[in-house]
Amino acid sequence: MSSALKETFERCKKENRSALITFITAGYPTIDDTIPILQGLQKGGVDIVEIGVPFSDPIADGPTIQVANTTALENGVTVPMVLELVKKARASGVTIPLVLMGYYNPILRYGEEKLIKDSAEAGADAFIVVDLPPQEAIQFRSTCAKCGITYVPLVAPATTDARLKVLGEIADSFIYVVSRMASTGASAQVSTGIPELCARVRKYAKGSPLAVGFGVSTREHFLEVGKDAEAVVIGSKFVTLMAESEPGKRGEAAYQYARDILGESSDFTPPASYEHKIGSAREVIPVLEEEHKHNPKFGDFGGQFVPEALYTCLAELEGAFESAVADPSFWEEFKSLYSYIGRPSSLHKAERLTEHAGGAQIWLKREDLNHTGSHKINNALAQVLIAKRLGKKKIIAETGAGQHGVATATACAKFGMECLVFMGAEDVRRQALNVFRMRILGAKVMAVTNGTQTLRDATSEAFRYWVSHLDTTHYVVGSAIGPHPYPTLVRTFQSVIGSEAKEQFKELNGGKLPNAVVACVGGGSNSVGMFAPFENDKEVKMLGVEAGGDGLDTERHSATLTAGIPGVFHGVRTYVLQDHDGQVHDTHSISAGLDYPGVGPQLAYWKSSGRADFMAATDAQALIGFRLLSQLEGIIPALESSHAIYGGVELAKTMSKDEHIIINVSGRGDKDVQSVAEALPTLGEKIGWDLRFEADPTK
Ligand SMILES: Cc1ncc(COP(=O)(O)O)c(C=O)c1O
Repeated sequence: MSSALKETFERCKKENRSALITFITAGYPTIDDTIPILQGLQKGGVDIVEIGVPFSDPIADGPTIQVANTTALENGVTVPMVLELVKKARASGVTIPLVLMGYYNPILRYGEEKLIKDSAEAGADAFIVVDLPPQEAIQFRSTCAKCGITYVPLVAPATTDARLKVLGEIADSFIYVVSRMASTGASAQVSTGIPELCARVRKYAKGSPLAVGFGVSTREHFLEVGKDAEAVVIGSKFVTLMAESEPGKRGEAAYQYARDILGESSDFTPPASYEHKIGSAREVIPVLEEEHKHNPKFGDFGGQFVPEALYTCLAELEGAFESAVADPSFWEEFKSLYSYIGRPSSLHKAERLTEHAGGAQIWLKREDLNHTGSHKINNALAQVLIAKRLGKKKIIAETGAGQHGVATATACAKFGMECLVFMGAEDVRRQALNVFRMRILGAKVMAVTNGTQTLRDATSEAFRYWVSHLDTTHYVVGSAIGPHPYPTLVRTFQSVIGSEAKEQFKELNGGKLPNAVVACVGGGSNSVGMFAPFENDKEVKMLGVEAGGDGLDTERHSATLTAGIPGVFHGVRTYVLQDHDGQVHDTHSISAGLDYPGVGPQLAYWKSSGRADFMAATDAQALIGFRLLSQLEGIIPALESSHAIYGGVELAKTMSKDEHIIINVSGRGDKDVQSVAEALPTLGEKIGWDLRFEADPTK
C-alpha cells in the first residue's frame, strides 16, 4: 500500500479513532480556493482528502456534487490543472494523503497510463474511478502499482460476493464502502445496515481498512459510522459548506469544519513532509467470471461502465431479459400486442420520391404508422412486459423528442403501471405537445434542469433515480444506448423493423434483398432495429444518417459517429462527442430526438468494422427531407426521420434505377409542426422554402 496511506491508518488506529476523509471538488467554488481549503483541512486534522476531478456527466453524484462539477468546469478546470493543483498543494506544505476521484472518460482521454504516472509525480497517493468495472479495474490497478500509487475500489450494499472477492484482492490501501443505494448527497440520518455491510465486505477485504461514505454529514454520524469502519468520508455536506462560506475565508471554514467533526481542541501535526515512497503491491491477477448469455461487448465497444450500485440494477434486468427471450410465452404475449401497435407496419414504394431522386427505387418502412406515431412503442411495450415479470410497479423513462416518453406512458396506461418521465427542461419547451400527451396518458413528467437540460441530462437523472428506487422501479431506456443489457435488449425488440421490412421486400420483389437500408441515428434504436436483421447480408449497404445541426464545421451538431471519438459515456464504451479533456460536448439538432452526444455501441462497432456507413444531414438538409416527403408522398415525417429521407435520397441519386433502397420512416411529424414553423424563417431561406411568403388562408 502507499506508505503515506498505510501510516495514516496506523496512526488513527493507535489514536483509537477512525480517520476522517473529506471530499472536495478541484477548482470549486473557485480555482483559487483549492489550496487554502486543503491547507485548512490539514491544519484542522483531516487525515485524507479526496479530490474530485470534475466531469460533465457525473451519474453517481447527487445535485450538490453535480453543481460543483459543472461550476469547476465553468471555472476552466481541466485534468492537467487538477494535477497542477496537487503539485501546488504539495509545494505549499500539504503532506496528508491525497486521493484523486474521477470518472473514466477524462482519464481515457488523457491516457490511462500517462495519467497514473503524472498523478504519482504530482503527489497523489491513490485513485478512485467511479465508473470502472472490476474487469477493467484489474488492469488500472496494476498500472497504479507500477507507479507507486494505489487503486481504491468502491463497493456498494448490493455488490455480489464474487465481485467483493475480486475488489478485495485489488485493494492496495483501503476499500471505499458506499453506504446506500443512491447517488451522493448529505442526509439527516446515516443508512441503516452499515455494520452488516462492513462485516460482509471485511470477509473479502484481506485486511484492508474500510472507508464508509455517502450520506455522512455530522460529528454524530462520523462517530456512529466510525464504530464499524477505519475511515469515514464526508462529501456533499462539506462541498455545500464551502459554497456557503465567505469568499477568501474558505480555508478557515475548512479548518473549523475539521475541528467540529473531530471534536478536538489542539491542532493536529501532519506528517513533516510529503514523500512519495513506492510501496509494494500484492502480485495478484484476480479473474472475475461473470456469465452473460449475450455478449456485453461489440468488438471494442459496449460493456458496463457504471458505479457499483447501478451494476445491481443491470444484473437484475439482464436476468429478466435473458429469461424472457428464452420463454415462448413471453414472445407470445409480446406478439399479441402487434395488433395494438398496428404491426406489421407497411412497406411500400415511394413513387414520386423515386422519380425526384432519379436513381434507385425508394421504399418506405412506415414506423410512423405505429400507435403513438413512432418506432419507440415496440421497445416500450416489451420493456414494460419485462418489468411486469420482475414484479415492478413503477416505470421511469427518459425522453428527448417526447416520442419515447409518450410510448412509455402509453404502455404504462395499458398495463396499469405508474409512470415518471424525465425530460430536459429545454426539450419540455420544444416538445410541449408531447409533454401534454404524456400527462393526458396519466404519466408525470419531471423537467430536468441540470446541465444542458436535454436528453443526456434526462438520462443521467433517470439512472440516478433508478439506483435509489430499484425495489419498485424499472427504467425503460428508449434507445440502444447505455450499459449492457440495454443495447442488446432494445435491439432485440426493435429488430422487428428490419425483419418485417426484409420479408415484405422479398415478397414484393421475387425473393430479392434491397441494395441498401437507411435510417436516422440518434441513440440508434430505429437504425439498429432496421440494420441488425441485414447484418449478415453483406451485399446490403447500411447507411445511418446523423444530425449535422448547423454543420460539422461548427460545434453545434449531434453527429457522434461522424465527428466523435471513442470514449465512455452513460455506462458504455462507444463514440462520444467530447473535448480534449474528455468532457462531453453540448449538442444541437433541430430534432430533439437526435440531440445526444453518445450512440449505441453496436453502431460504433459497425462503424469501426466498416459494416455500416454514416453521414450527417444538417438542420437545413433535414428540412429538405421533411418537405420532400410531405409534398411528394403526402407523409409528414418526424424531423428525426427527415434526416434519413435526405440521406436516402442522396444515396439513391448515386445508384442505378434497377437498385432498391429502404428508408425507415421512424416517426410522424405532427409533434414537429411547431418546430418547423419556428425554424423556417431562418432555415427556409437556405433551402428556398418559406411559408411566410405564401398566401395564408387564415388571414
Ligand atoms: C421519430 C424518432 N425517430 C428517431 C429517433 C432517434 O432515436 P433512435 O436513434 O434511438 O432511433 C427518435 C427519438 O426520439 C424519434 O422520436
